[in-house]
Amino acid sequence: TVPNAQKTVRDCIRTIPDFPKPGIMFRDVTTLFADPRGFRMCIDQLLHPFADQRFDHVAALESRGFIMGGAIAHQLNVGFIPIRKKGKLPGETLHEEYQLEYGEAVMEIHTDALKPGDRVLIVDDLLATGGTAEAGVKLCRRLGAEIVGCAFIIDLPDLGGRKRLEDMGLRVEALCA
Ligand code: PRP
Ligand code: ADE
Repeated sequence: TVPNAQKTVRDCIRTIPDFPKPGIMFRDVTTLFADPRGFRMCIDQLLHPFADQRFDHVAALESRGFIMGGAIAHQLNVGFIPIRKKGKLPGETLHEEYQLEYGEAVMEIHTDALKPGDRVLIVDDLLATGGTAEAGVKLCRRLGAEIVGCAFIIDLPDLGGRKRLEDMGLRVEALCA
């Protein structure tokens, strides 16, 4: 690399082989979030494609999506909506099952978190198969919200997540592969 060249968002993400199981190249964003310049660049660059869009809420997927969603909500003065793993939200919820690489999981949203016509940006750190994001989108849509787009730091293109979301009529933006 060029001496003194500015680090990119991608440069701040490390890959840890064989986590959480053999064969997985785990993209670890803790190093990006720990870097003050990297974290700010990441949030600014994620929002750039949506600069001409108005939205009322950012809805983020537990758990790494929450770190980004909180920063975005604060920066843009929009509300933050958590989409959480089963059993964590205290009020009345809707739930959606989705497939993980091994087995199934469930995401939930509070039924009063969104109302028909609310404009929502969905965020998460990483798009792999798209199952997690699809569950989040479905929950927001079941409450009548309009999804302005889905923003990720990392898109792992070989796993098909982008196509899956685009086939649902969604705009997908990611900073790196
Ligand atoms: C990771 C990542 C996404 C999801 C992407 O979360 O943060 O939410 O996997 O995978 P998919 O596109 O195949 O659904 P994980 O399930 O590891 O949960 P965590 O953020 O709570 O660690
Ligand atoms: N979620 C699914 N696949 C992942 C990966 N390779 N790194 C980090 N999170 C993931």
